[in-house]
Amino acid sequence: SADVLLRSQLLRWYDKEKRELPWRTLVTDHMFCSRTLQDPFLSPFLVWVSEIMLQQTQVATVKDYYLRWMKRWPTVKALAAATLEEVNQMWAGLGYYSRGKRLHEGAQKVVTELKGQMPQTVDSLLKQLPGVGRYTAAAIGSIALGQVTGAVDGNVIRVLCRLRAIGADSTSPAVTEALWGLANMLVDPERPGDFNQAMMELGARVCTPKGPLCSQCPVQSHCHSYHRVGITSNWKLSAL
Ligand code: ADE
Repeated sequence: SADVLLRSQLLRWYDKEKRELPWRTLVTDHMFCSRTLQDPFLSPFLVWVSEIMLQQTQVATVKDYYLRWMKRWPTVKALAAATLEEVNQMWAGLGYYSRGKRLHEGAQKVVTELKGQMPQTVDSLLKQLPGVGRYTAAAIGSIALGQVTGAVDGNVIRVLCRLRAIGADSTSPAVTEALWGLANMLVDPERPGDFNQAMMELGARVCTPKGPLCSQCPVQSHCHSYHRVGITSNWKLSAL
């Protein structure tokens, strides 16, 4: 069907074009923690830290902070043992310090209440971890745990609204629900984490806020806005 084609085109583009980002690297012995090569997924702890840092900060800025953070606190246990002062010091420059504070609180909760085990489902991530909302739980669940769920952040909202030519206010609860429903329908059941990251990557690099670069878009042929407007050069549907 059309959705199957969209998935495969998007993932083929992602496989070729994706940026090498530290949190996208498979966690193996040579990295920070002792996970094994057979493990196909990323560590939920590593994805958690990256998603919290990425919430209000650009990818380029996050990279260095992330690597420094992970060198200092490679495990949830190490982070839990840190003091809030150390956490704030490490966070300095990223802004919105409550994010670091909640990460630290969450790590302490995992160690003291969850026997050091990160929650393993979207629902429990959402329930157990402070600062983890619907998007972040879905991101960690799909990227690190292979759970089949869409993940709708600001970039993905824009991509989906353009893809389906949704002009309605995307902040309204009804449209938000519709976009989550759409994301859940579109997500690749075999590679949910890659699919979601591909959507984010598409929003950041091709389907940008300033105006989409439709000629470079791997899913151009599926895009209702592209077909409606027809031409990309003076594409200015800032409402979408
Ligand atoms: N923004 C939020 N999560 C991201 C990810 N995993 N990759 C790129 N940008 C992101």
